[in-house]
Amino acid sequence: MVLINTVKELTEKLAETKKKGLTIGLVPTMGALHNGHLSLINRARAENDIVVCSIFVNPVQFNNPEDLQKYPRTLNNDLNLINDKVDFVFSPTPEEVFPTPPTEQYDFGNLATVMEGAFRPGHFNGVAIIVKRLFDWVQPTKAYFGEKDFQQLVILKDLVKQYHLDLQIVDCPIVRESSGLALSSRNARLSAEDQKTAAKIHKILEESKSIGSVQDTKKYVISQIQNEPAFKLDYFAIVDSETLQPITSFDSVDHVIGCIALYISNVRLIDNVKYK
Ligand code: PAF
Repeated sequence: MVLINTVKELTEKLAETKKKGLTIGLVPTMGALHNGHLSLINRARAENDIVVCSIFVNPVQFNNPEDLQKYPRTLNNDLNLINDKVDFVFSPTPEEVFPTPPTEQYDFGNLATVMEGAFRPGHFNGVAIIVKRLFDWVQPTKAYFGEKDFQQLVILKDLVKQYHLDLQIVDCPIVRESSGLALSSRNARLSAEDQKTAAKIHKILEESKSIGSVQDTKKYVISQIQNEPAFKLDYFAIVDSETLQPITSFDSVDHVIGCIALYISNVRLIDNVKYK
């Protein structure tokens, strides 16, 4: 694995790769790597000649300064973990990525006004800013993202469509602890007790698959979450998986997903469940 810190070195190294006609798989991350990230890297490894993993805690996608400050940073561990799995790790400083404050404004319409977009204003513009720059620098054949950030995945597919980017976004399934807790870098900030409690999120979402109507399903999830004093719910929404707009009947669309965001001990977690 070669560690790269500058955009110049990254683009030079990858230009050689492109000249040879090799395919490039990009796995963008913010570090604190876990088995969820490893599943993306393994998939990228299996499907491409060259694998690039970026590790960059992107300041412009955090709307809460405390969340940015407390985001786990474990670069040496991360490098050890993926040393023999990737060809290049791109780990720039914020000054390297943003020599001047970024001004790009993306428009994802209603995809970005609901759920995370409503609770984290500016978040998806910040995600799009870094991901578009990474796409421009790396010019990957395929880029890998986890389904835990389902709204992000849909928005990044829209980015690719809007800008006619010549790459494929590959969605990768959520990886969970045996308890059911979805793997997240933020889990590192939870106590053992909180991790146990947080595992209830998946259990409640799974149970909700057999409730019945959209209204009753929502009521069930919200009441179960509110029954657990450690949880503070941001939202639970049942939406069309393509438009991300709320639905009122499971029969009205082909693909439906329930998305949840909540706090436990000041740590914000998200998860989701596919209903159909
Ligand atoms: O999903 C993430 O970890 C981040 O949002 C991403 C895609 C790496 C952009 O910073």
